[in-house]
Amino acid sequence: MARTHYIAGNWKMNTSKAEAVKLASDLVSALKGKTNKFMIGVPFVYLDAVSQVVKGSNIILAAQDCAATANGAHTGEVSTEMLKDLGVQCVILGHSERRHEIGESDELINKKVRRALNEGLEVDLCIGELLADREAGNAEQVCAFQLSADLAGVTEEQMKRVTIAYEPVWAIGTGKTATPEDAEAIHKFVRGYIAKLYNQKVADEVIIQYGGSMKASNAPELLAQPDIDGGLIGGASLKAETFVPICEC
Ligand code: 13P
Repeated sequence: MARTHYIAGNWKMNTSKAEAVKLASDLVSALKGKTNKFMIGVPFVYLDAVSQVVKGSNIILAAQDCAATANGAHTGEVSTEMLKDLGVQCVILGHSERRHEIGESDELINKKVRRALNEGLEVDLCIGELLADREAGNAEQVCAFQLSADLAGVTEEQMKRVTIAYEPVWAIGTGKTATPEDAEAIHKFVRGYIAKLYNQKVADEVIIQYGGSMKASNAPELLAQPDIDGGLIGGASLKAETFVPICEC
């Protein structure tokens, strides 16, 4: 099954407005004509400016979160309506930094996933275990729980707009990368679990990205694994010099 490689940058809470616009325009030039799928996850406050830059390019504009509800009295929240108004096409949801720093539950993540999909957006759903889970031999169990809880109520048709990002929490921003073999083992498990939740066709088609200290030096080995279809990149996505080489892998 040939799946498109999907390389995404999660800028997290970084860059100034000027840096965001410059980085986006450098990426538009560097990735022009390339056939992989590309996405950048931009801080809310810069989405409008970056949207003007990536419009008409082959780079998908993503937000790093969205509200679980429609417009209304929800102070500080940003709705899917507002995001679509700015040209946003995708939302990163379930990131470990939101799960563990902000305390987002799988129930809330599921509401956001369904809201984004019902509103026609793509979702990049992040899952992954803590170091303690891995050391206790529970990595697969944690990923299975997150998948079934976060995708509850998502239809087979909607799964065409869902990407899974496996991000072992102990590998995020730490310089520690899962070995290609360890990452592949979980990716294979995740694909098998999607087959159980849906069917083999959905599992064969779903793109599963790896995230956690991915850079140009380790990306080729990771992306060579049969079930690793791309990457969700944090630190190395903040400069065109470090992100573009991964996109070209
Ligand atoms: P790093 O690439 O900085 O480890 O971050 C990975 C990540 O969390 C992407 O969402």
